[in-house]
Amino acid sequence: MSTVKNTSEKTEKMEKKEKTVVRGLEDIVAAETGVSYVDGVNGALYYAGYNVHDLAGRTSYEETIHLLWYGELPNRIELADFRSRLVSEMRLPSQVIRMIELAPPNSHPMAVLRSIVSALGMFDPDVENNTLEANQRKAVRLTAQIPTIIADLHRVRTHQPVLSPDPHLGFAPNFLYMFRGSLPDQEETEAIDLCMMLHADHGLNASTFAARVTASTKSDMHAAITSAIATLKGPLHGGANQRVMEMLNRIDDVDEVKAYIEGMLDEKKRIMGFGHRVYKTEDPRAKHLRNISESLCHRANQGHLYEISHRIEQVVRKAKGIYPNVDFYSATVQHALGIPKEYFTTVFAASRISGWIAHILEQYADNRLIRPTSKYTGQYGRTFVPIEKR
Ligand code: COA
Repeated sequence: MSTVKNTSEKTEKMEKKEKTVVRGLEDIVAAETGVSYVDGVNGALYYAGYNVHDLAGRTSYEETIHLLWYGELPNRIELADFRSRLVSEMRLPSQVIRMIELAPPNSHPMAVLRSIVSALGMFDPDVENNTLEANQRKAVRLTAQIPTIIADLHRVRTHQPVLSPDPHLGFAPNFLYMFRGSLPDQEETEAIDLCMMLHADHGLNASTFAARVTASTKSDMHAAITSAIATLKGPLHGGANQRVMEMLNRIDDVDEVKAYIEGMLDEKKRIMGFGHRVYKTEDPRAKHLRNISESLCHRANQGHLYEISHRIEQVVRKAKGIYPNVDFYSATVQHALGIPKEYFTTVFAASRISGWIAHILEQYADNRLIRPTSKYTGQYGRTFVPIEKR
């Protein structure tokens, strides 16, 4: 008995002395990556060495996926082949469509997406095959299937027939077509491509870390993507874009913005779509999304939403010195494209899957189990009481 007590006293002393907890793992370097680099000081983002400002408006989403997975932008022949492989894999097994139909009508689209991606693993012929070749096949399939899950869920819930992809359309506009049932025009095509391209990867963010942790146990790709979707769902991460729209819906006029935001800040509430763990200046993605938001909102007779957003940006910046992140203007971009707010985070997932997969492939290629430690703050040396005496 006394040996046990001495041991626990020693352990207690050690725990108190030696371990420093880094809350939120801030600034901890947990992986090496060649996928993307977030320069928080200068407000820059690089995909495999390319500044996103150079890619924005000049590359489609599928060119970006190719870059993240294979390290190079595709030439025309490679792009045509990659695009047709993606579009041809957009179909879902009929049992999976049935599962989508069976999802409780009020369940959140991110919860459905998470569950269906997990279920898709059971239908994938390569699910337990962790070779590079099998993982590359699964990468194409999963990336192609996610937009279809989102589109089908929306169509089922709005009592409209589900649609097959149009082989003449690119990957991102195909999603918009299958979701809405109308062909996107040139401006909408460019907007959805740019929006998805800008969300493709972002260093070791929370959902990417979750994907890498799962992959590091040598679990399968579907499992790793399921973890990532579950993590993206939270309002401090990808779930923020839906909350941005909810906030915009609570403000009727530009003149109300100052009082509304100041009231929120007085109550120590977070303004969704603002602030960032890494950027100390403007998020480079916000600049592009702001431009598309302005143009699409005015075109859709929703100019007031852009004006309110812009005013919020000014007020928050003055009051807190923080800037909009990727989620702030992506809310109005998606709204103007005809996507209901409950689906915003799923569209983020349909984009970020490209980055998740690139990181999962990196993790498999040079794996070490990710297993940090914790500082125990519980009790020591308690005396056991048998159940009949408790
Ligand atoms: N609204 C109001 N204040 C905010 C804020 C926000 N959105 N984001 C950060 N701040 C403030 C904090 O209150 C804190 O101020 P203080 O020093 O006066 O207390 C300071 O900025 C630092 O915040 P901190 O919580 O340490 O930053 P973090 O790195 O832990 O948080 C986020 C990063 C993204 C979680 C945070 O900015 C946030 O909650 N944003 C809203 C959710 C969101 O948009 N998420 C999407 C991220 S892409």
